[in-house]
Amino acid sequence: MNLTLKVWRQKNNADKGSFNNYTLTGISEDMSFLEMLDVLNEELSEKNEDPVHFDHDCREGICGMCSLYINGKPHGPQQTTTCQLHMRSFKDGDTIVIEPWRASAFPVVKDLVVDRGAFDRIIQAGGYVSVNTGGVPDANEIPIPKRIADEAFDAATCIGCGACVAACKNASAMLFTSAKISQLAMLPQGQVERKERAEQMVAQMDAEGFGACTNTGACSAECPKGISLTNIARMNREYFSAVASSENV
Ligand code: SF4
Ligand code: FES
Repeated sequence: MNLTLKVWRQKNNADKGSFNNYTLTGISEDMSFLEMLDVLNEELSEKNEDPVHFDHDCREGICGMCSLYINGKPHGPQQTTTCQLHMRSFKDGDTIVIEPWRASAFPVVKDLVVDRGAFDRIIQAGGYVSVNTGGVPDANEIPIPKRIADEAFDAATCIGCGACVAACKNASAMLFTSAKISQLAMLPQGQVERKERAEQMVAQMDAEGFGACTNTGACSAECPKGISLTNIARMNREYFSAVASSENV
């Protein structure tokens, strides 16, 4: 395949940034999108030009690092991560526009790399459980109904990629935050900090500058893990009940 790439280049957060055009020839449709970018970077390096900076780690769809905005969609035309996107999703002669996530809470570090530290700080605010150290408990010690276990697991599959924020016209982080609150709120192990967790994680989400949710559903439609909007409804219940009971104390 022969392709034209329009790639966002930005030296640092203070730089205005602009698109650069590159042409690539002989790209295999079996390559992943990131392998195609590797080819571009090899060519740039051979010409002593600065390679395009982009994030990646696992290349297996589990770390959430490969956050690219491709042809106007987070992670491109398929509902998957960029590392699991293959060039067979494009046609010979295509022009592909590649940008970083666009959200003020995710400032650009360089080129296509953004700082998603805001997500880490939301997790630090309450996305954990208190456990006693010691031996590993028996897996069947705390029986959990299958439906609850499945729902908690589905919420736990969120990989923190940020596509929900990038897809949302308000740059809302409610799908991410609600998945992280839900996975713990549904399980017995998550009950100890349940109220504080909902209050503190929502407060941190707001402090980071993410927008409000207006129920367009773009987040869930683009989420590579199919995280459901029901998690947002659950987070709202968790939050309001926590706030209400705090005020009664
Ligand atoms: S909810 Fe989905 S889109 Fe948002 S961070 Fe988690 S996996 Fe990514
Ligand atoms: S590189 Fe880890 S999810 Fe894509």
